[in-house]
Amino acid sequence: MEPVVLDEVTSTNDVARELAGSGCPEGTVVLAARQSRGRGRLGRHWASDQGGLWFSLVFRPAPEHGVVSRLSLVSAVGSAEGVTETTQLRVGLKWPNDLYMKGKKVAGILHELGRDWVVAGIGINVNQLSWDGEMAVPPTSLRLETGRRQALEPLLAAVVRRTFVRYRQALSGDWALVRDAWRELSITLGHVVLVSMPGQCFEGEALDIDEDGNLLVKTGDEVVTVMAGDVTLARRKAGWQCRDA
Ligand code: BTN
Repeated sequence: MEPVVLDEVTSTNDVARELAGSGCPEGTVVLAARQSRGRGRLGRHWASDQGGLWFSLVFRPAPEHGVVSRLSLVSAVGSAEGVTETTQLRVGLKWPNDLYMKGKKVAGILHELGRDWVVAGIGINVNQLSWDGEMAVPPTSLRLETGRRQALEPLLAAVVRRTFVRYRQALSGDWALVRDAWRELSITLGHVVLVSMPGQCFEGEALDIDEDGNLLVKTGDEVVTVMAGDVTLARRKAGWQCRDA
């Protein structure tokens, strides 16, 4: 299916949500050169100048497949595999779906849910060399990591293809393959993390992900299931403290 290609939008998720609400088919892709109000998880701003790959994918999972809560890891694995396929770079996944390279964030994913659709908004820093303003996490781009300008089209095609391969596995009873692939790519599991979720903030060891892709964190004698929120990877450093998720 041909992507819907736009120059500037507020957010590709806005356009994809509208199309999804008016019945566009699963697999619809909305791509833009720039976003004036790109958004990230937890209400954060997402810097979306020219040079990055900013796009949204529409899914229509049937409720009986129980896949909605797992989509977050599906698109994380698909995106990481697509990036590695096109650039040969190693990608690490921070729970739930941030893509990292050598301690810097190269891509992020925002899922938004409607009555019978899910939109996955995927943002990959591709050809940027610098960013304005202070970023919560140090960013990097594929150009900075490879030393070469990267073409957007083959990257888009690879990420969409790998994401739908993983999606079909999740739908057809092969969720374990997706979960194992996420575990393999994880830079979260086995580490001490600071978890910020609404009304709660604590430190613990990231043990595993459960059947639905939630993160299991051991704190004291308890294992807490983290369904939403923010996870900071830690080498206990000064100034590492809870903030509102
Ligand atoms: C995050 O890491 O917080 C998620 C970032 C998601 C950014 C992408 S860019 C395409 C789509 N449109 C948006 O406004 N956000 C997502």
